[in-house]
Amino acid sequence: MADRNAPGRFITFEGIDGAGKSTQGRRLARWLEQHGVSVCLTREPGGSPGAEQIRNLLVTGPAERWDPWCEALLLYAARRDHWIRLIEPALARGQWVICDRFADSTFVYQGSAGGMCMAMLQRLHDLALGPVRPDVTVLLDLPVPRGLERVRDRATGEDRFENRARDYLDRLRKGFLDRARAEPDRIAVIDASAAPGEIAHAVLDELRARLPRDTASWPTTAP
Ligand code: TMP
Repeated sequence: MADRNAPGRFITFEGIDGAGKSTQGRRLARWLEQHGVSVCLTREPGGSPGAEQIRNLLVTGPAERWDPWCEALLLYAARRDHWIRLIEPALARGQWVICDRFADSTFVYQGSAGGMCMAMLQRLHDLALGPVRPDVTVLLDLPVPRGLERVRDRATGEDRFENRARDYLDRLRKGFLDRARAEPDRIAVIDASAAPGEIAHAVLDELRARLPRDTASWPTTAP
């Protein structure tokens, strides 16, 4: 958990590729800034200079470049750098950190879909970061074919994960939903096939419901 004594809050967006995480993260960040909340918007893998270098190793090249264990080790090297250099200091300053993907992605991509043992991943997490977890995680849930359609229209060159087989992608969606069922207090599932404005509303509603004390003074204006 993000340190409850630190004034900031740690919000993560998760989901399959093409679910709209980046769009919704940016939208939430803009709304919060407009209403006086200082925000640090970031992403994984990446978010700090060292972690962005590791990202480049992870997201380019052929799918067989790394096995799930190597991916997990690279991801946790990146995540630790990101945590100590950017996220933890931002939370301590009282900022709200909005992060596009975090540890749930590793448990789902390398664990549920990649076949790594969840207990080993948990040990890796505990070793690298200790008891760190987001205050609220928004899972943008989308059927795999819809995600694929959206991803196909992009040309980022970062397609190592996106070129995986369809059954891998099906395991991703199920893996995220399984995590949400296991941790309903932290993970809010939102239908990502709705219009972006509706999704943004749903995200704010979930934050109000889950962080009532932090959000009590927020206006009800549209995001
Ligand atoms: P992005 O496209 O959301 O920026 O993420 C890049 C890819 O990295 C995406 O296909 C998911 C993958 N990924 C993992 O496999 N494990 C992780 O822990 C993270 C953060 C991302």
